[in-house]
Amino acid sequence: MTNLAKASLSLFTTCLLLLTGCRQQSPMAGWSHYGGTPAMTRYSSLTQIDTSNVGKLQVAWTYHTMDGDTVNHSQIQCNPIVVNGVLYGTTPQMKLFAVDAATGLEKWVFNPFDTTAFKIPKRFFFIMNNSRGVSWWSDDDKDQRLYYTAGSFLYCINAQTGKVVTSFGEEGKVDLHDGLDRDVRDLFITSTSPGVVYQDLIIMGTRVDEGAAAAPGHIRAYDVRTGKRRWIFHTIPQPGELGYETWKDTAAWRHIGGANNWSGMSLDESRGIVFVPTGSTSFDFYGGKRKGDGLFGDCLLALNAATGERIWHFQTVHHDMWDRDLPTPPALITVMRDGKSIDAVAQPTKSGYVFVFERTTGKPLFPIEEVSVPQTSLEGEESAPTQPVPVLPPPFARQSFTMDDVNDLVPDSSVVQVKKRLGGYLTGNPFNPPSRQGTVIFPGFDGGAEWGGPAFDPSSGLLYVNANEMPWVLTMVDVKKESATAETLRDAGQRLYTQYCQSCHGTRMQGSGNFPAIDKAGEKYTAATLKTLLASGRRMMPAFKQLADAEHDAIATWVLRMNDLYAKPFEKPVNPEEEYRKLPYTITGYNKFLTPEGYPAIRPPWGTLNAIDLNSGEIRWKIPFGTYPEFEARGIVTGSENYGGPVVTAGGLVFIAATRDGYMHAYHKKSGKLLWQFQLPVPGFATPSVYEVGGRQYVVIACGGGKLGTKSGDAYVAFALPQE
Ligand code: HEC
Repeated sequence: MTNLAKASLSLFTTCLLLLTGCRQQSPMAGWSHYGGTPAMTRYSSLTQIDTSNVGKLQVAWTYHTMDGDTVNHSQIQCNPIVVNGVLYGTTPQMKLFAVDAATGLEKWVFNPFDTTAFKIPKRFFFIMNNSRGVSWWSDDDKDQRLYYTAGSFLYCINAQTGKVVTSFGEEGKVDLHDGLDRDVRDLFITSTSPGVVYQDLIIMGTRVDEGAAAAPGHIRAYDVRTGKRRWIFHTIPQPGELGYETWKDTAAWRHIGGANNWSGMSLDESRGIVFVPTGSTSFDFYGGKRKGDGLFGDCLLALNAATGERIWHFQTVHHDMWDRDLPTPPALITVMRDGKSIDAVAQPTKSGYVFVFERTTGKPLFPIEEVSVPQTSLEGEESAPTQPVPVLPPPFARQSFTMDDVNDLVPDSSVVQVKKRLGGYLTGNPFNPPSRQGTVIFPGFDGGAEWGGPAFDPSSGLLYVNANEMPWVLTMVDVKKESATAETLRDAGQRLYTQYCQSCHGTRMQGSGNFPAIDKAGEKYTAATLKTLLASGRRMMPAFKQLADAEHDAIATWVLRMNDLYAKPFEKPVNPEEEYRKLPYTITGYNKFLTPEGYPAIRPPWGTLNAIDLNSGEIRWKIPFGTYPEFEARGIVTGSENYGGPVVTAGGLVFIAATRDGYMHAYHKKSGKLLWQFQLPVPGFATPSVYEVGGRQYVVIACGGGKLGTKSGDAYVAFALPQE
């Protein structure tokens, strides 16, 4: 039987289930799924709030989770779900909560870190990961469940009581380390996006380390009742599997990780196809240990949701050297071609492209060209000769940063300084390879598009995407060679720091990009508490359980400047994986390219909101998105970096928060005109949900702040029209 035949068979079974009373909530009233519906279009058919009355929106309720953490920059990235008048979301400290969606009154809170509630094996540490949402499954009114990940555990929670369903997995949870067909006990694994529920399966992706020691990103489906693994798709193929031939090192599959789905998936429920966007294989920036195109890294995968079998795939970046993970689930859409409607899938990327494919075959709906790209000069690295670029739609973010684009809103002396730096870097081609001299990454490491994803309006064929336009500089440096003679703790600590920590915390522990400085960690951490952090990780910081105790000691000695221990000998552990983990290069950090004043080095816009017509492939409108007060005062709208996505409604509106200035916005969906904005308590770096309870329409946004230097918060704020 062909995959397509199987897919249509499962279509048949879905319908049967529907007929036999499998209760489905109307997507019109609720927001029963991350992104609104499994199609991930972030569209609401509600019309009570429209272009004529949106100016009257008021805060209907605010729910405080009471566990924001301003010291450690906590965040809430959650797109909450609403089912049968109850809203479910996650908190900065990874709790799961239920509130009345009309009043915001709390029903229950589940705390995964309450060790008294259930047994957790000692070897596990708690990871405070980011959580973008939860998944819902119900069999009938009696059995309603929620699934979400805290640390490395996928939890199953009774939606009515907020208690774990103990018959699922081990005492109500499944450890994502297990069942990967490879021993990854010591590697970092969590999940930041909720799984997709298809029939009696929950299909899960993961977030893994981006360094040299990473777990593979295989996709797994678990039985919603028992937590048993029902299928696995190897995103890093094993011998005999399709795609294995795209790896030059035939043993790489045993050691290389990544190709993981951290951004979530979309589901064509009636066809039984799950669409899985993947990220790059690891290490992100040097591929000398993973030569070849490296399927299924940076792919859009169409899998049979019932069996995990591949239907089609498209690789958006060959042999990624830039961390160009697919950052969002694609939107499942319908477009018009020559008077006919075609079911399609639209995948936005960090690089500012939208790839559009026919949904069942993967045939591109606009031509995609393989363009020749500049080649690497790093030792042991091999660039792919070409990269795929869609001819239409045009990119929704600028593609290069040249001398003509330098930010001229700053004093002349700063312009001169930026030009001098720019002149020393590789720039001008989005596929310039990572280099020792520094390569401009533009649009940046965080898009183009990001995890907030797009929204699609079926009535017009417009896809709404917010984007960042921030240049970053990627600089490769040699990893200090291990000395042939015995090392001291200091030397080993310094070497391990460059190998495992410098990429985020910078060459001098000064921090980089959105990663904190740790040069004063000695004031906050002891060797013991630092080692606990290294074993657990926290939010965007991965865990380093794969390193031996002696290596943790050496790192602590170096980072905490424990100079009384510097001269002690380092006892080198034996590690069979070492060959794959020892890379000749690392990076100096995730460094934004800024003017001396701290503004992006490129001229505005630094953030945009775009409406792209997917019938014609044209950009219908584009506006700068986000403000800097000091420029706004001069009448210049610059746009700003932003995180979190839009929602589009049948009422004619695009709702989005996402900006660092902390506004919630409503735009006219046809023109991009700002119709309403509201200052949130802290920025809403999340995607809103739109729902109806008791005849009243609400728009809710999680306000967690904590990114882009903003204050952390703990609020979910719901808006509605005043009641007559
Ligand atoms: C992928 C990026 C990344 C890597 C690699 C990384 N870190 Fe971090 N680190 C972070 C982030 C992000 C945080 C902030 C975590 C949070 O949200 O609380 C952090 C926090 C820390 C802190 C706590 C700072 C504070 O003020 O509480 C220390 C100490 C630290 N890291 C040390 C290390 C060491 C040592 C290594 C190498 C073994 C390392 N990190 C590797 C991203 C990284």
